[in-house]
This record gives sequence, C-alpha cells and structure tokens, in this order.
Amino acid sequence: MATPKIELIDVHKRFGTKKVLNGVNLTIQSGQSMVVIGGSGTGKSVMLKCILGLLTPDKGTIKIDGTPVTGLRGKRDDDLMSKFGMLFQGAALFDSKRVWENVAFSLLYGHKRVARGKARAIANENLAKVGLGPEVGDLYPAELSGGMQKRVGLARAIANTPDIIFFDEPTTGLDPIMADVINDLIVSTVKNIGATTLSITHDMASARKIADQIAMIYKGRIIWAGPAESIDDSGNAMVDQFIHGRAEGPIQMDVLKP
Ligand SMILES: Nc1ncnc2c1ncn2[C@@H]1O[C@H](COP(=O)(O)OP(=O)(O)O)[C@@H](O)[C@H]1O
Ligand SMILES: [Mg+2]
Repeated sequence: MATPKIELIDVHKRFGTKKVLNGVNLTIQSGQSMVVIGGSGTGKSVMLKCILGLLTPDKGTIKIDGTPVTGLRGKRDDDLMSKFGMLFQGAALFDSKRVWENVAFSLLYGHKRVARGKARAIANENLAKVGLGPEVGDLYPAELSGGMQKRVGLARAIANTPDIIFFDEPTTGLDPIMADVINDLIVSTVKNIGATTLSITHDMASARKIADQIAMIYKGRIIWAGPAESIDDSGNAMVDQFIHGRAEGPIQMDVLKP
C-alpha cells in the first residue's frame, strides 16, 4: 500500500489531569477526504492542533508523507506549513485586512512571497472559485455575512494550492442551505486541486456530503473508521447513537453527571 498522507499513531495529549487524546490512531490516504465526527469537547480540535504543530502530543507519532513531524522546528516547519491549507472554525479572518488580503495572506506574508499585484490576481481567482466577485475583495470581513465569511475562509484555505487542507467545523453557525452551499464548494474546490483533506465536525449532513472516509472519536480514541457509505451499517452502537442524535445510548454526556 502507498505511504499514507497523514498518519497518527497512538497520539496522547492531556491538559493537567484531563486526558483529552488517549491513543488516537488514524490513517488518511493521499487524495482522500477524511471526516472525523464526534461530540463537543471530545478532542477534535486538539487532534487537529497536534497535526498542525500548534500543540505537542505527550506521546505518539504523527507522520506526514511518511515523515514524523512531531517536534519539528524552524525551516522544515515552514516547508511543512506551506503544504497546509486551513479553514478555522468561525472562518477566523483578520478584521483589519481587506478580504483580498485575507485570501492572499500566505502569499503576502508567508515565506514564499509574491508581489502585491500578483497576490491580488491570485486572490481574485480564488474568490471566483467560491462564487465571489473581485469587488468583494475590497471589503472588510465585518461587512460580510457569515456564509460569505466562510467562502472567504475557503478561498484563503485553497489560495496557496495546498497539498492538505484542514477544515474545523466548516458549517457551524450557518443555516442548513448555506451549510450545503459550503459543503458543495468544499467538494468542488478540493477535487479541483486534488488535495487530501481532514475535516472535523459534529454535523452529520456535512460529513455525509464531504467524506470519503469517516472516523468517530470518543473519549480521546477513534472508536470506528470506515468508508462514508458504510456509516449506516457500522454495527457500532455509539456511532448509531451519534448519527441519529439520540440522547439514550452508550454515550453518556458528561454534562449530565453530577
Ligand atoms: N489549551 C487547552 N488547555 C486546557 N484544556 C484544553 C485546551 N484545549 C482544549 N482543552 C480541553 O480539551 C477538551 C477537548 O477540546 P476540543 O478538542 O476543543 O473539543 P472539540 O471536540 O469540541 O473540538 C475540552 O474539554 C477542552 O476544554
Ligand atoms: Mg472544536
């Protein structure tokens, strides 16, 4: 089998006495769209931050293209980051920068800079890919609706034609129709650049739409993984409970504990 694009092997992360990741194992093949589902507070964002190098795991290995990346610093880190695109939860645009400067951010301020005119042209191209005209580029993020901000976030995530794109809750805060527009845009833009993607979400409609593979995280471990089309026949009671949104089942919400 080909070298996986991303591999997590027995990844652990705790904060104080709170164990958040408790031996995560996850393999993502090149060109695939992996969606990790799980309830709020189950460690999805922490897992993503460990892969991005924003947090350091206490134990375990993370490999990108077969190379361990945990604990890398400096130049190799920059090379690695230039492979990545990222759409943060809530889009996380820079308020003080115009939309086009947000889209072209890595080209204007990253370590592979291009001239401003060229950056603007690339920003316009990427705005067009998410259905926004060049005039939107002159606005500030605060002037946009939530759905438009997500589009701009997506345009920014694809602007440096990354090898790997991470999506953290890409549809959170959007109405179902706008969420579906964003899901469609994610699928079409990602297919276009041939990127490998890892998305984390608690939105099953989004997971079904964008995933080739789905994995479910619970209590800091991946408890099930398989092709998206097999999620309804997982044979796993926790997966069934989650995808049907049932309060009753093996998953007990911590908030209900005294
Ligand atoms: N930097 C941090 N310091 C302490 N606790 C944290 C930190 N980041 C996350 N946590 C805790 O880890 C748990 C998982 O968080 P997170 O990965 O954000 O969940 P989610 O699955 O909703 O994305 C939560 O209980 C959260 O409070
Ligand atoms: Mg999160």
